[in-house]
Amino acid sequence: MKTGISLAIFMLLASTSIQHSKEEWKSRSIYQLLTDRFQTDDGSAGSCDNLRKYCGGTWKGIESKLDYIKGMGFDAIWISPIPENNGDNYHGYAALNWYKSNPHFGDDHSLQSLVNTAHSKGMWVMLDVVANHVAQIDMAFDQVYPFNDASHYHDKCEISHWDNPQEVEYCRMANLPDLNQDNPWVRSQLLQWVKWAVSKFNFDGIRVDTVPHVKNQFWKEYAQAAGIFSIGEASNGQVSFIAQYANSGLDSTLNYPLYYVLRDVFNFKYSMYGLKTLVDTEQKLINDPYALGNFIDNHDTARFLSVSHSQTLLKAALAFNFLSPGIPILYYGTEQAFSGENDPFCREPLWISKFNTTTDLYKYIGKLNALRKQFQIWMKPHVERWIDDKFYAFSRGDVLVALSNDDTGIQTRLITYHPFKAGAKVCNILWPTDCVVITSDNKLQVTLNYAEVKIFTLQSAIVDNLSLTLEY
Ligand SMILES: *[C@@H]1O[C@H](CO)[C@@H](O)[C@H](O)[C@H]1NC(C)=O
Ligand SMILES: *[C@@H]1O[C@H](CO)[C@@H](O)[C@H](O)[C@H]1NC(C)=O
Repeated sequence: MKTGISLAIFMLLASTSIQHSKEEWKSRSIYQLLTDRFQTDDGSAGSCDNLRKYCGGTWKGIESKLDYIKGMGFDAIWISPIPENNGDNYHGYAALNWYKSNPHFGDDHSLQSLVNTAHSKGMWVMLDVVANHVAQIDMAFDQVYPFNDASHYHDKCEISHWDNPQEVEYCRMANLPDLNQDNPWVRSQLLQWVKWAVSKFNFDGIRVDTVPHVKNQFWKEYAQAAGIFSIGEASNGQVSFIAQYANSGLDSTLNYPLYYVLRDVFNFKYSMYGLKTLVDTEQKLINDPYALGNFIDNHDTARFLSVSHSQTLLKAALAFNFLSPGIPILYYGTEQAFSGENDPFCREPLWISKFNTTTDLYKYIGKLNALRKQFQIWMKPHVERWIDDKFYAFSRGDVLVALSNDDTGIQTRLITYHPFKAGAKVCNILWPTDCVVITSDNKLQVTLNYAEVKIFTLQSAIVDNLSLTLEY
């Protein structure tokens, strides 16, 4: 009896601190939001005349709208950094008191409540963390807790040569005091902090800011201290550059090279060969390309629709983002066709959309997540099936994705290298009456009108399963 009770208690404790690994995160898709810009406490419109100041979003607000996120099929969210910041730093990347929750966002209880409610809905929470710098206090170090002494920081200098790793690691970015991770006390405090934050609030993953600004050796210890999946920001379009960080230290990095290629191919209409080169290079240089964090835009970039204003091309870019190797990340507001330009204009408050769940993009993103799940896309290798300047096709298991960036014409191809058998009937998951029979000489004819996306699979798989999940 006694053993039974302690076992039950042990199980309860164990179940509240499950630590999710890289392998588990590969099956997830992540909705990135800015805490200050997602939803207010009571749903009232915050005052947001100035996008450079706080607009009123809170953890309680996020909790109240988890179903909106889940309704698109996301099973993870990424939230802004949590410590108290100074001044107008609504984004959270300027910590003042590392152990105090940002009072603009709520308190410890409302943050814990958000994480618990997310977990009860099967959703994981990824915390954005910073270990490189603190708030812009110039030399007034005593304002920061616990890093309150000049000896905790590198000497003041400003980064001016961004291609010089020494400068990037030792100097300040935008005059943000640069923590000295070689100081054993600072190092142990940073490790202790991340361990504390993860266990106090029960987070499932961390997104790590400004990774190239700290020596790479530090990140291995940091990831171990966190004990959960870690994905780092190395904001660079070169695969060889992000490979340094993706292949050691943290579990993975954000896929900045993909971001640049998707913009080039679908916004600027450069050759579709860009996609091929990217996939090939990442397979070669990244140990685990299936763990990269894929995105088409984020809070530090102009939104996709600010460049091309074409929802058709956006859908094509999203299909590649969700179905090529990597963990898909969607920046909040994409589903509402937000089109803000560079920071701060890409940081619109979401509540102006009234959380409309009937927009075309909201439903489309839901379909991408549903089919990713049903076909367990993350388990299937990416196989290139066709490439030329205007057309790219690839398969993941029994799913074949065909894309074009030609939104002014019609592109038809006869694909012979595909995963289906002669005589099989395959249909477009996005338009299930759009079916083709594979010819006796094994050709799959694919016609894309004005850059539309087609995703083919066996008709039997659609009838059995997807018709229910996708609600045509
Ligand atoms: C929601 O979006 C749909 C489709 O764009 C539109 O027809 C409808 O008016 C919107 N609803 C609200 C409340 O804005
Ligand atoms: C339908 O889904 C189930 C499980 O979700 C799976 O076992 C089955 O193979 C699927 N059927 C087809 C035809 O894909």
